[in-house]
Amino acid sequence: MTSAAALADRRRWHDATLAAARVAASFIAEQSASRRELVWEEKSATDFVTAVDIGAEERIRSVLAEQVPEVRIVGEELGADGDPEQGLVAIVDPLDGTTNFLHGFPNYGVSICIALDGVPQVGVVHDVARGGVCHAIAGGGAFFDETPLRVSSISSPPRALIGTGFPFRDVSFADQYVRQFRALMPQVSGMRRAGSAALDLSDVARGRFEAFWELFLHPWDLAAGVLLVREAGGRVTDLEGNDARLIEGPIVASNGVLHDWFLEVLNEHDA
Ligand code: IPD
Ligand code: CA
Ligand code: CA
Repeated sequence: MTSAAALADRRRWHDATLAAARVAASFIAEQSASRRELVWEEKSATDFVTAVDIGAEERIRSVLAEQVPEVRIVGEELGADGDPEQGLVAIVDPLDGTTNFLHGFPNYGVSICIALDGVPQVGVVHDVARGGVCHAIAGGGAFFDETPLRVSSISSPPRALIGTGFPFRDVSFADQYVRQFRALMPQVSGMRRAGSAALDLSDVARGRFEAFWELFLHPWDLAAGVLLVREAGGRVTDLEGNDARLIEGPIVASNGVLHDWFLEVLNEHDA
């Protein structure tokens, strides 16, 4: 199998991921009214999962099994079946921003990407709390519902709004973040930690953030968002400027024009 899928297949995968995300988003929205009654299971001392994350992934898997039976699934909650960069894989975060969801902070979403041999083919990030879906087919542009997306054209760092995500389970990156914050703060308009990497990447694609970085993410946090940013005209790399991959690690996304400046500032303290 090569990474060039037929357009008809990509369209079918796109419609299936949109349908799966919609079903999961309705379930999450319905459950949000009774969030205070949920049992929080500890994944680690500060990281929780509930029946909502799991129920959402079950619903996504059942839509995909019906509409894209040929796809293998790498899901956050119900099992990563093999390598996300090998073959035809659906990479699923059923609820990105669980902490926000549990507190009723309205920034959480569903993220699904179908990738072929490590190349994202379709990506969907459904904003559950505010409504609306960012979606893309490789080579076909990115959209928010029906509206085409374009990254911001701001090229001046003092006008830039930067998104980030800092650690809450593994704090071994804390010092590196603090050094990066110190370097960035005096140079930009503002920095935000909104709590959902998938929505943060969508916000770069939507031209709300000029750039976003996080030092450690999983493939399900970033896969769909990587495609959205690329299809909206932006750039997504690691800290060295290599094209982003669908693996665990750091991610740096931007509107493109600010990318080299952004990498330089993030790496400044390591020079
Ligand atoms: C988390 C969110 C958060 C990011 C974490 C992710 P989850 O995903 O995307 O913004 O900082 O690294 O793990 O656990 O809510 O699916
Ligand atoms: Ca996540
Ligand atoms: Ca999640």
